[in-house]
Amino acid sequence: MPYRSRPADSDSDSIDVVPAAALDRRIRLFDRTVGCGSCHNVYSQQSKLLVMSNQGSQLCLKCHVY
Ligand code: HEC
Ligand code: HEC
Repeated sequence: MPYRSRPADSDSDSIDVVPAAALDRRIRLFDRTVGCGSCHNVYSQQSKLLVMSNQGSQLCLKCHVY
């Protein structure tokens, strides 16, 4: 899916993400889209081959601004 903040039509529907250029380097985009390889890496030592731990939703919160 495209990596972008969904325009906020109403406050409840707004999805804010950090600017692509400011993403943690472990999280890769593919032609400005999110793919399996944004969260997974076959060489990862993490559980479920995640690019980083998702303990406390920290992987989610690398992209999402809560
Ligand atoms: C936004 C991040 C993200 C993306 C994108 C993503 N995953 Fe995951 N995936 C996760 C997380 C987090 C878990 C661990 C879930 C858990 O621990 O229960 C996971 C778990 C998995 C698992 C293990 C499931 C299990 O029960 O053992 C597989 C297989 C998997 N993902 C495949 C994929 C594939 C294939 C894609 C692309 C189509 C993909 N993932 C895209 C975050 C992501
Ligand atoms: C690589 C960046 C990235 C990561 C990591 C990520 N997200 Fe997202 N997520 C997005 C983007 C970008 C959107 C907005 C897509 C759009 O609106 O087109 C989104 C949308 C969503 C939505 C709204 C879906 C909808 O259709 O309304 C939910 C819910 C969500 N993410 C949950 C999660 C959870 C839970 C995790 C952690 C397992 C996670 N995200 C990790 C980038 C990410």
